[in-house]
Amino acid sequence: MKDLIFASNNMHKLEEVRSMLGLKYNIVSLKQVGYNQEIPENQDTLQGNALQKARVIYNQYHKNCFADDTGLEIEALDGRPGVYSARYAGEHCSFEDNMNKVLAEMQNEQNRKACFRTVIALILDGKEYLFEGRVDGVILREKHGKDGFGYDPVFLPDGFDASFAEMSLEQKNAISHRGRAIAKLAQFLINL
Ligand code: IMP
Repeated sequence: MKDLIFASNNMHKLEEVRSMLGLKYNIVSLKQVGYNQEIPENQDTLQGNALQKARVIYNQYHKNCFADDTGLEIEALDGRPGVYSARYAGEHCSFEDNMNKVLAEMQNEQNRKACFRTVIALILDGKEYLFEGRVDGVILREKHGKDGFGYDPVFLPDGFDASFAEMSLEQKNAISHRGRAIAKLAQFLINL
């Protein structure tokens, strides 16, 4: 089976990817290749960050690899927090801090539209490919649910009456930004 490095150590993401690609590819984590630093991600777009991370790993190991980057984009906030989603409330902030900041900024907003977007950059034999997954929804007025991570308790996907934090992982993966981006990547790789 061919190796494919996923430039991540997030066990949840690795599991998700292995469940979709594991029959054809041996998905290798950063830890497994021995990369123990933080990969730089200092670009101002999701695409830029995903490409930056994939290029760092490809240039170091010369092995096929991919990387992802995700952001929550809120229409009334001109697309913020966007590429800054992880550290929206400051350098060492928690998910709670980030959600509280978003809820405060959205307090008087009637337009609640938002989307999560994931960009995956794949480098295969030196060629670069991009895949995007997106889910539209609205920002709730308060947190709902305890599961998931990040902004899940304040995001209600269109067509559902449960926030991402009130869904099972399977339900969320089936419609989520990352699930959709991974599905596109898997489709591409399986058709090779
Ligand atoms: P990353 O690029 O996957 O590390 O995501 C960046 C940030 O976006 C995370 O730190 C979370 O705050 C947020 N985020 C990414 N994916 C999700 C999700 O599925 N639900 C909620 N928040 C997410």
